[in-house]
Amino acid sequence: MNSVEQTLSIVKPDAVERNLDNEIKEIFKNKGFIILKEKKIQIEKTEAERFYKVHETKPFYNDLCAYLSSGPIVVMVLEKENAVMANRELMGATNPKDAKDGTIRRKYGISIDKNSVHGSDSVENAKIEIDFFFKD
Ligand code: CMP
Repeated sequence: MNSVEQTLSIVKPDAVERNLDNEIKEIFKNKGFIILKEKKIQIEKTEAERFYKVHETKPFYNDLCAYLSSGPIVVMVLEKENAVMANRELMGATNPKDAKDGTIRRKYGISIDKNSVHGSDSVENAKIEIDFFFKD
């Protein structure tokens, strides 16, 4: 069944550093996503550690958190029918080398770490991740 969902998107430091945030936002809008909320911020490493807590046992956890907090990011709440899956399809595979043509990571990603964008992986996690950045 199709339903309108919200998902969290992050334009990561590698993409913001290359001034790709507006270009990436246009891609989302052209694919029918509505950007409900957005802000450009830089987070502390401890905040990145909380955000990526699900990965805390992974060997790449420390580098991942250091990286996400290394420069400005753009965080957005995106809305569309089936937004979670639609965003994951548009982002492409985690490793840009494996991402299909036409996906954001294929086009802009540099490596598995510097893969330009993050997107929530489920409706449940989307709610948690949106609250993490936008709870007021
Ligand atoms: P993201 O969707 O932000 O979620 C976790 C991130 O960990 C992922 O994108 C990658 O950038 C990063 N990462 C680094 N190494 C790996 C790995 N071996 N497997 C999965 N994700 C990795």
